[in-house]
Amino acid sequence: MVTAACFAELGNQVICVDSDGERIAGLRRKKMPFYEPGLERMVLRNLSKRRLSFSTQISEGVKKSQIIFIAVGTPPLPSGDADLTSVEQVAREVARAMTSYRLIVEKSTVPVETGRWIQRTLETSIRKKVPFDVASNPEFLREGSAVMDFLHPDRIVIGAESKKAEQLLCRLYKSFKAPILVTDIASAELIKHASNAFLATKISFINAIACVAEQVGADVEKIAQGMGMDPRIGPAFLKAGAGFGGFCFPKDVEAFIRIAEKIGYDFDILKAVKRVNESQRLRIVKKVEKQLWNVKDKVVGVLGLAFKPDTDDLRFAPALDVIGALQAGGARVRAYDPVAMPEAKRVLKDVVFSKDAYQAVSGADCLVLMTEWDEFKKLDFGRLKRAMRQPVIVDGRNLLDPEKARKAGFRYVGVGRHTLDGWGAS
Ligand code: UDX
Repeated sequence: MVTAACFAELGNQVICVDSDGERIAGLRRKKMPFYEPGLERMVLRNLSKRRLSFSTQISEGVKKSQIIFIAVGTPPLPSGDADLTSVEQVAREVARAMTSYRLIVEKSTVPVETGRWIQRTLETSIRKKVPFDVASNPEFLREGSAVMDFLHPDRIVIGAESKKAEQLLCRLYKSFKAPILVTDIASAELIKHASNAFLATKISFINAIACVAEQVGADVEKIAQGMGMDPRIGPAFLKAGAGFGGFCFPKDVEAFIRIAEKIGYDFDILKAVKRVNESQRLRIVKKVEKQLWNVKDKVVGVLGLAFKPDTDDLRFAPALDVIGALQAGGARVRAYDPVAMPEAKRVLKDVVFSKDAYQAVSGADCLVLMTEWDEFKKLDFGRLKRAMRQPVIVDGRNLLDPEKARKAGFRYVGVGRHTLDGWGAS
């Protein structure tokens, strides 16, 4: 959706095809299928300029386009492998609809060698001897800033193995200032997986440092700052917290482990990254238990449910696991999220949803902060304390000011942060 809207914004004619008739009907009625800052306005603008249209028919999209992006979902199978059946199915249908040259570009995050499989599928499914090329053009968009990330990329990666494919894609991106890196298809596929895996590794690494820091009275925020000042390390993705969630890092790390396994390489580092990430969620629960002694029948107010701010996406969100574990221990959970509440009501059971943060912690024995939404930065500690039964904060994202919280009379526990009162370390 973001790719389509942004290509239209750049002046291209874009037709979006999806097999989900309801989604397409909704889009035709100008209803966005998910929340993403800036997307709705861009879609509406390009609809009115007639550069963007919607269809449920692959044949219509193929007929009207020279370049076809495959951007279907590649969800994880129980084994951890990416499920590529949608990619195959779409490639087959595209092949059947082609009557003259087309460039087919894989945009979905896919295991290395998917490009080759798409090539083979097209060759076997094509009706006549129609020429085509396959290319890989991975995206590096983050949810919550996807539109900006698309329009202002750090780099554009094009995996192409023919001059024509390379030229078509370079022309499509010609107005961008970012460097374009042209590679073979397998390298482009691996750049995407390697980039996500590396960022996930940075997060698990700083979370491991946080575990050490909190035992020795050091502050992971300062450690990250000090490490980040080294340009070889850099400050990004060194934010300790409840760990990474969302539909990319957890599934991509898992898929990369499986891809390596299949070619006979034991990707031990990534296995540790995954393990640290999973235990990070449990550590939040342990901190609540340590503060409340028993969680049974205690009331916990959870602030933030989305896997990160500026999105309503709850997939693999740390908050879901933390809530599940607290409920399993007998706690009663109240929750609030500025954007993800409608989605949360669908996936969470036995949670009391509140209209704001103060209502969520009303009568609570503990406040647990799980997503670093901007509005939580401005919380009034006095008001929170008056609303709560016990003044306890477990800050799973190190968002709040520990000193201010303590001055207001709270017992504050963050992640990898020095706790003067001896209550925090676990
Ligand atoms: C990620 C990649 O950043 C993007 O390039 C790729 O295309 C898709 O996957 P996204 O999942 O939208 O994007 O979010 P991102 O901002 O990368 O955060 C992922 C998770 O890591 C979130 O749960 C976030 O809270 C967590 N995170 C991120 C940390 O815990 N610490 C950090 O320092 C950064």
